Amino acid sequence: MSMQGKVALVTGGTGGIGTAICKKLAAAGAKVVATYIGDEGQAKDWQAKMAADGVDAMIVACDVSSFDDCKAMGDTLNAEMGGVDILVNNAGITKDGTFRKMSADQWNAVLTVNLDSVFNVTKQFVDGMMTKGWGRVINISSINGQKGQFGQTNYSAAKAGMHGFSMALAQETAKKGVTVNSVSPGYIGTEMVMAVPEEVRNQIVAQIPVGRLGKPDEIAALVTFLASDDAAFITGANIAANGGQHMC
Ligand code: CAA
Repeated sequence: MSMQGKVALVTGGTGGIGTAICKKLAAAGAKVVATYIGDEGQAKDWQAKMAADGVDAMIVACDVSSFDDCKAMGDTLNAEMGGVDILVNNAGITKDGTFRKMSADQWNAVLTVNLDSVFNVTKQFVDGMMTKGWGRVINISSINGQKGQFGQTNYSAAKAGMHGFSMALAQETAKKGVTVNSVSPGYIGTEMVMAVPEEVRNQIVAQIPVGRLGKPDEIAALVTFLASDDAAFITGANIAANGGQHMC
């Protein structure tokens, strides 16, 4: 699976699943760019760790919920890297709470970071992909966008929205060699899932037929396949990787 000469942008690339995706895309030959938000020092430490693991990753600060930030990033990458061939919209947050207790801030934060970001970032690169006649957009959705989750009206709505976006854009770009797909991970052993109270998390793990949390590498392997030439006939799909917790 050679991705030599391809540029891959992974939003939230320094996070749990993002790091695994960056490593696998780089191992397949892609030049990887990871977005981060917040502490530049932490992002540089991440970059140094990646380098120690043999991965030469670029980092770029970008608040994906801001169209202006994404436009600035897009202008830079389009001018300096010749565009982005593989875009993985992976950045996401949770602000869980039952609907009755959920504030407008909790709703807005999750919708803007998880869903508006998909518009903001994809908008910068789709023209370039279509002009080149090759591109991959992979949206990291969630099992909870497929089945809903108690305490996650905001997150479930945003994640379901991501797949609606994938299906619509897939139809618009198919003839130009650009595929758009969603991946819906189940509960993966990352900081985000470990932040769920232990008792609640144990109840969730008990509902996973495979009997454990997923591994970031298991999501990264699927993303890397979707990014490859071999996946050219897969578009508008939502591929679940959830240990059997939800089947549809
Ligand atoms: N179904 C039905 N009832 C449930 C329930 C469920 N799944 N979970 C809790 N309840 C009930 C409780 O039994 C309790 O009932 P009583 O009041 O009768 O005792 C009540 O709901 C608790 O309601 P509260 O409003 O008091 O809720 P809380 O403040 O205790 O916490 C919560 C609610 C924050 C949602 C907490 O349950 C929680 O963290 N749940 C996990 C949410 C989750 O799965 N998040 C995933 C994060 S990781 C991720 O999102 C990645 C990914 O893509 C998978």
